[in-house]
Amino acid sequence: MSALHVIEHPLIQSKLTRMRNTRTDNEAFRRLLEELTALMVYEITRDYPLREKRVDTPLEPTTGRVLDVSIVLAPILRAGTGMLGGVLNLIPMAKVGHIGLYRDPATLEPVEYYCKLPPELPAAQVILVDPMLATAGSAIAATDIIKREGGKRIQFLCLVAAPEGVDAYSAAHPDVPIYTAALDRELNEKGYILPGLGDAGDRIFGT
Ligand code: PRP
Ligand code: URA
Repeated sequence: MSALHVIEHPLIQSKLTRMRNTRTDNEAFRRLLEELTALMVYEITRDYPLREKRVDTPLEPTTGRVLDVSIVLAPILRAGTGMLGGVLNLIPMAKVGHIGLYRDPATLEPVEYYCKLPPELPAAQVILVDPMLATAGSAIAATDIIKREGGKRIQFLCLVAAPEGVDAYSAAHPDVPIYTAALDRELNEKGYILPGLGDAGDRIFGT
């Protein structure tokens, strides 16, 4: 069973509520997604390892601490790319791998159409990002791909999750923790999350 972390921070919840609002336009939606992602990254990186590093302040040398892990960020195309800026603002040295998947509207099965992952993958801490965990088909397939390419330490970061998706993902990848801003009620017959925020890709890109 994957560990499920629902991040209840007040700033995260306030921004998510604005994103859910159907009257929030594409520009505001994109900005909120980046801000919210950055806040969530702050939470999910709490336990990352540090190493000591000598540094000269204007007054004297001292020992500071810096991140001691390489980080690979893996957005699921296309909606996951809306979360890229939020992570890279905080972790500018992260490498980025892209995983192209779309959900077939009839079968809801994920279809892979692109994959480019950095060579650092096997030794890296991988953050897989996609705003929506619905049936979990896309996230499961993306995690399969990351593991197939040698990724070992993976965190899955989303914004809104359905209980059905959490159960399916946990069964497929019990070693990968899920971080979300909300665990919603259910999926509708078309595989949309209720209450959700609609089609994340369409709301980010205005399609
Ligand atoms: C959305 C979303 C996830 C997927 C979630 O992408 O961004 O990738 O659906 O659904 P699932 O958990 O049932 O797989 P979509 O397939 O609409 O593609 P897009 O990002 O290109 O719009
Ligand atoms: N993908 C989305 O973008 N939204 C949903 O509610 C479900 C899948």
